[in-house]
Amino acid sequence: MSKIPIIIDCDPGHDDALMLMLAFGSGMFDIRAVTISAGNQTQAKTMNNALKILTLIGATDIPVYHGAEKPLFRDLAVADYAHGETGLDGPSLPTHTMAVQPMRAVEAMAAILVEAGSSITIVPTGPLTNIATLLLAYPHLKSKIERISLMGGGIFRGNMTPLAEFNIYNDPEAAAIVFNAGVPITMCGLDVTHKALVFQKDIELFRSLGNKTGTAAAGMMDFFSIFYRKNMPELDGGAPLHDPCAIAWLMNPGIFKTKSCYVDVETKGELTRGATVVDFYNVLNREPNAVVAFDIDRDEYINMLYNAIKVLP
Ligand code: BDR
Ligand code: CA
Repeated sequence: MSKIPIIIDCDPGHDDALMLMLAFGSGMFDIRAVTISAGNQTQAKTMNNALKILTLIGATDIPVYHGAEKPLFRDLAVADYAHGETGLDGPSLPTHTMAVQPMRAVEAMAAILVEAGSSITIVPTGPLTNIATLLLAYPHLKSKIERISLMGGGIFRGNMTPLAEFNIYNDPEAAAIVFNAGVPITMCGLDVTHKALVFQKDIELFRSLGNKTGTAAAGMMDFFSIFYRKNMPELDGGAPLHDPCAIAWLMNPGIFKTKSCYVDVETKGELTRGATVVDFYNVLNREPNAVVAFDIDRDEYINMLYNAIKVLP
């Protein structure tokens, strides 16, 4: 089977790190670039974390590009409360010697799209600043984008405010540009990611692999779980493994429950800034612009992660 060509745009981040492990370890993707967004931490820190993860998993030949330092119009709100001071606190990770490409993320994505013989899927798992800038600066390249499979938003819930999810909350204007771009979108929001839970038994399964990546993945999930066990007891000790969902859907959409919906983003609301407004019951009767995931076969998801981590160093 031919590999799916993708560009990954991420802000590692513990769950971004496992997303990278799934993307690289699955062997299903032709990963053309990793571009970095500021989000869980500053651009400098998320970049450093991405380079460490790529080194850990032996993906040192992948071109990596600096993205935006901050959201389009707002200050960056980092998630140190969940990801720590480095953005990837917890296990010790290898130092890296990877060089960052001199070109910036948006120009690099555009160049990749121009040169590509077929269309490319973009997988964003952080704030959408880089992707919105790409779409604004190079609208003629939209036809070269097969789909945007993203982690962000929520139908019925938020984690920054009651209705807004972190990635969309950080840069709602960028998210509004992306959802209104006319490019096919898959939205893996909190409705599905809060069912994509990783429990202690899953963490031990990763650890039991005994390879460097499995040990690091387990250590990351140990740290990541602390925040959720303390603050979201409703999840019964599970931690929502958000970002790998955006990759898992591309690997096997059959493990998800989805609905095609019209989605827009609230940029001004007094109580609702950054909320994805998902017309789940089609009350507006508008053309759907997103496949919205709301449930997942959790066991199969963990299995996919396990199998991917197993083949990495
Ligand atoms: C999203 O926010 C970040 O903290 C995670 O990496 C994920 O992308 C979840 O709301
Ligand atoms: Ca992320």
